[in-house]
Amino acid sequence: MYADLKKGFKIKSDPVILAIESSCDETAAAVVKGGREILSSEIMSSCSEHIRFGGVVPEIASRAHTAAVSEVVKRAINSANIKLSDVDAVAVTYGAGLLGALLVGLSYAKALAFSLGVPIIPVSHIRGHLAASYLVDKALKPPFISLLASGGHTAVIEVEEDGEFHILGGTKDDAVGEAFDKVARTIGLNYPGGPNIEKLALEGKNVITLPKMLKGENGYNFSYSGLKTAVVNFVHNAEQRGESFSKADVAKSFQCSAIDILVEKALKACREYGRNTLTVGGGVAANGYLRERLTTECKKERIKLVLPPKILCTDNAAMIGAEGYIQYIKGNFADLTLNAKARVDLG
Ligand code: KG4
Ligand code: ZN
Repeated sequence: MYADLKKGFKIKSDPVILAIESSCDETAAAVVKGGREILSSEIMSSCSEHIRFGGVVPEIASRAHTAAVSEVVKRAINSANIKLSDVDAVAVTYGAGLLGALLVGLSYAKALAFSLGVPIIPVSHIRGHLAASYLVDKALKPPFISLLASGGHTAVIEVEEDGEFHILGGTKDDAVGEAFDKVARTIGLNYPGGPNIEKLALEGKNVITLPKMLKGENGYNFSYSGLKTAVVNFVHNAEQRGESFSKADVAKSFQCSAIDILVEKALKACREYGRNTLTVGGGVAANGYLRERLTTECKKERIKLVLPPKILCTDNAAMIGAEGYIQYIKGNFADLTLNAKARVDLG
């Protein structure tokens, strides 16, 4: 009945896209013009409501999105200094993420797009993380190498001339962010684990021997479960023997092992594929140690590093607007049957 919602739209070169993101515990809305210019980016987070449970509680997240979504969209429209009638398309995260959480943003976006008579652009959250780089380097154009490091994904990707993804490698088990979160819990740090490990690591030394993947091992693939288990065993053994240990040293040693391999493999890809631009995306890209190491190594190897500011690495809607633009130009619109997906393939 509403199939025509996918068709008949004139594609503008400089569209004003309203983007909505609700895949986890951040309710976000942004206005992005022409895929490169952020007119506004608003985030409301339910993070503090999850701390006492040690992780995101899906139902709490969904309820928080329901309470926040209309306010966050209003804020995005107001701070962009536009009217709803100026919106040319609505981009929305349809996956990957928590289903109940995704459905809130998705249903809101569908109703809004329908009432405005504009297209709905379904956006993959993972691709959104990678598209954040287009917002910081307005001249950025494929081909380049991308490093994706988030709570759900770890991958090295060659973005080809036409924008297609050639996945060089990914994780065989846990994602790097997931390992940060599990190690944080093991040493008694609150959710969210990544930023808390980073903070504690500042006081520690890299003195605990942990398994490290060798440079050439597994090609471009990663494996974080062995590293995570080694930390868990180290902590449990020390506790059982009644030996004291420095949690800060655990945090620092883990962080070095987890991050160094990301840097090594991302740079190896640039070398082997002859690409002199590296873009980085995902929550773990907010990590100060990773940022520092990438900056130093890329400078040494004369590789141009496109590293979005921290606020564009963790979950936000501006990145959804950037990826939404790429899909908009291709006319990849959805109709009102668009549904949420817990998992989405990277390719
Ligand atoms: O990209 P993201 O916000 O959500 C997903 O799409 O998965 O990533 C969340 C992950 C969490 O595992 C979190 O602990 C990690 O990113 N993270 C960090 C830092 N900030 C967020 N990990 C290390 N250092 C950080 N500063
Ligand atoms: Zn994310």
